[in-house]
Amino acid sequence: MTADRRFAYAQLLRRDGDAEAAADVLAQTLELAPTWPEGQFALAETLAEAGRKYDAIAAYEHYLTLDPADSMGAAVKLALLTEVKPATLPAAYLTRLFDEYAPRFEKALIEKLHYRAPQILREALDETEPARTFTRVFDLGCGTGLAGVALRDRAGWLGGVDLSAAMVKGAESKGVYDELEVGDMLAALEKLDEKCDLILAADVLTYVGDLTAVFMLAKKQLNAGGLFAFTVQRLEGDGFTLGAEHRFSHSRSYVESLASQSGFEIVTVKDAVSRKEKGVDVPGLLAILRA
Ligand SMILES: C[S@@+](CC[C@H](N)C(=O)[O-])C[C@H]1O[C@@H](n2cnc3c(N)ncnc32)[C@H](O)[C@@H]1O
Repeated sequence: MTADRRFAYAQLLRRDGDAEAAADVLAQTLELAPTWPEGQFALAETLAEAGRKYDAIAAYEHYLTLDPADSMGAAVKLALLTEVKPATLPAAYLTRLFDEYAPRFEKALIEKLHYRAPQILREALDETEPARTFTRVFDLGCGTGLAGVALRDRAGWLGGVDLSAAMVKGAESKGVYDELEVGDMLAALEKLDEKCDLILAADVLTYVGDLTAVFMLAKKQLNAGGLFAFTVQRLEGDGFTLGAEHRFSHSRSYVESLASQSGFEIVTVKDAVSRKEKGVDVPGLLAILRA
């Protein structure tokens, strides 16, 4: 059998719940195609499904030697298997995830997950600063532009950045941004040529564990009195953690103490639900910080 056919057969075995047999077939497949990252990743996943944790860890580590950019997210799998807390997720993994997700993103998010982060940020800003027009607004992880649409009428210049070119294409089609770019939000923040009055991060910091750099840069790139407004998933307890759904959650104490350390005044950090998961509200926090 060719490598492709063996791979397809292994996937069938996996689907039927025979992970051990699937792992054997995948190991044979990789003898034919030893440098194939997707095959190696599938082997690692299959070993994990078979309960062979340490073999799975070794297989994910081997995958990383074949695809050092980690576009399939082995770092996430390793973190969940080893309970080592990663500070962030690989950019190549997020880019691939959202490039693939982009065509069905809004339908899935709005119809199935009842996504409301842009709306609740808008409502909170209307409450705290009802009369203010924000001269320069920058939308971190703008996705398909839902936050831009929600805030357009309160913004002068509106810019956005996202890792995923396909998501940015969706944002472009909304026609509400003055400037959009494909890239990492930290790099984009770093090179902003003018300071902002509002920096938004709607459901984006869930893909970052350690928020120190983004808080520091947001503070640096806001005019005095400017606002950093964002949502996160809420963790009970302290710090932050990576969940099985490959999203981070952050505790209220973590957000509040990092806000103070970064030189922000806390306007609000409150419980807020911005999406559902399997029909159940996902606990979240909405924060507005003043520079
Ligand atoms: C759940 S979507 C939210 C999109 C948008 N803010 C909204 O409210 O619809 C998360 C987005 O964050 C982007 N993203 C995640 N990490 C990023 C990073 N480090 N830099 C730029 N974009 C990032 C993803 O590509 C994705 O489009």
